[in-house]
Amino acid sequence: MSAPREQWTSKLAFVLAAAGSAVGLGNIWRFSYVVGTNGGAAFVFMYLVIIAVIGYPMMVTEVTLGQKAHKDPIGTFKALAPDTPWWLVGAMGVMAGFIILSFYSVVGGWSLAYVFKTFTGALGAGTDFGGEFVGLIGSAGQPIFWHALFMLLTIGIIAAGVVNGISRSVRILMPALFVLLLILVIRSVTLPGAGAGIAFYLRPDFSELNAQSLLAAVGQAFFTLSLGMGAMITYGSYLNDKEDIPDNAGWVVGLDTFIALLAGFAIFPAVFALGQDPGAGAGLAFITLPAVFAEIPAGLLFGGLFFLLLSVAALTSAISLLEVVVAWIIDEHEWVRWKAALVLGGIIFLLGIPASLSLGAADITVIGMPFFDFLDFLQESILLPLGGLLTSIFAGYVWKAKRTRDAANANAKKLKLGWWFDVLIMYVVPVAIALVMMFGLVDQYPIMAWVFAAGFGTAIFFTILYHVIKAAIKNSRPMN
Ligand code: PHE
Repeated sequence: MSAPREQWTSKLAFVLAAAGSAVGLGNIWRFSYVVGTNGGAAFVFMYLVIIAVIGYPMMVTEVTLGQKAHKDPIGTFKALAPDTPWWLVGAMGVMAGFIILSFYSVVGGWSLAYVFKTFTGALGAGTDFGGEFVGLIGSAGQPIFWHALFMLLTIGIIAAGVVNGISRSVRILMPALFVLLLILVIRSVTLPGAGAGIAFYLRPDFSELNAQSLLAAVGQAFFTLSLGMGAMITYGSYLNDKEDIPDNAGWVVGLDTFIALLAGFAIFPAVFALGQDPGAGAGLAFITLPAVFAEIPAGLLFGGLFFLLLSVAALTSAISLLEVVVAWIIDEHEWVRWKAALVLGGIIFLLGIPASLSLGAADITVIGMPFFDFLDFLQESILLPLGGLLTSIFAGYVWKAKRTRDAANANAKKLKLGWWFDVLIMYVVPVAIALVMMFGLVDQYPIMAWVFAAGFGTAIFFTILYHVIKAAIKNSRPMN
């Protein structure tokens, strides 16, 4: 027999852990460069709309499904809709966990490397910050060493268990990260020439938006909120039955959005003040922020602290990714926790190696992009939106919107979900995601749209087939 399932010890523990999962590299590293490459304010505006209209209802839904089933994502779909193929959505989530963590850990490794570089004075004033960054990620051994260290830390925390490992680390981190971000924002917006960056970040030019950037906004919203792949189902599964879900979900979404917006204020004014290019891509935060620290008294100290906090924020997200995979193998295959963490973490580490090498050390490309970019593309444009789409269909039509809402509302005090929740989860969320995915993919890779359409067609075909066969079997049995 396996050990009894753990539960969060308090409401705060859950909110902190879920916010710890949500707040991470997505808010600082990924948010800033995706905003930068998609034109700035108009993108931010759309992103906020998507967070409210898609992100919040999806957060409520995933936590509720997990809390009802008290199971990993695959087990949750199996428990709520037995003898149906819906568990495949959970399986896709577990797969996404593998894929995302493999490159996430590489970036977590960069952050660890920057703690070291900053504290040792390698990133002082006058450094070629761009050259430093490209030099680090483009080499072979260094980033893999840091990736290994990051993965080891993740495995260690997960092996220690949910409550001990996860809750503890988040409690100190969130307030500290907030304070350091605030210092950065103040320095950044007071740099001479910062105004252009503030305008870039706040003054929308909607002609900058296209189908591709909308898809990027949906993908970023899912990524930053840890949605669409079962992480919040898994965390919800450790929630006891007395919690106020609409309120908790609101806190998690609110905190995550707040930190991302703050990171933008730390980065964009400085990008413009220092004459950098906002569309520079994945290096933006790693190049700009050290340059801002170089402008602050005792900047190396603050800088080192900042990257330390960023690394911890990344860790509290990485553990939720590994937890999805580990919970699956514990719940469904009865492995012991430490063995699951070690073996699965090891596989993810190996997958991260080619991802890291593809950024300069070796020529590893898939459909014309470095393997690292391919993995990120796969999760942003396909896995997470598709996972979200299918989960909303499940909650809205299979488990039924009303039941989902009632379950979420069971202990709601301040904010009770009304009819609008049903409208969002049944119509707005799935239709918006489906449209954005279709057009976004046609825009980028015409061929992908066909793959998507074929996949969708096949899914519908098999669903109908399944129901026809089921009805036929039922009818062939004598009634009594
Ligand atoms: N939300 C995390 C971040 O912003 C990343 C993540 C994605 C974690 C998906 C879990 C699941 O850094």
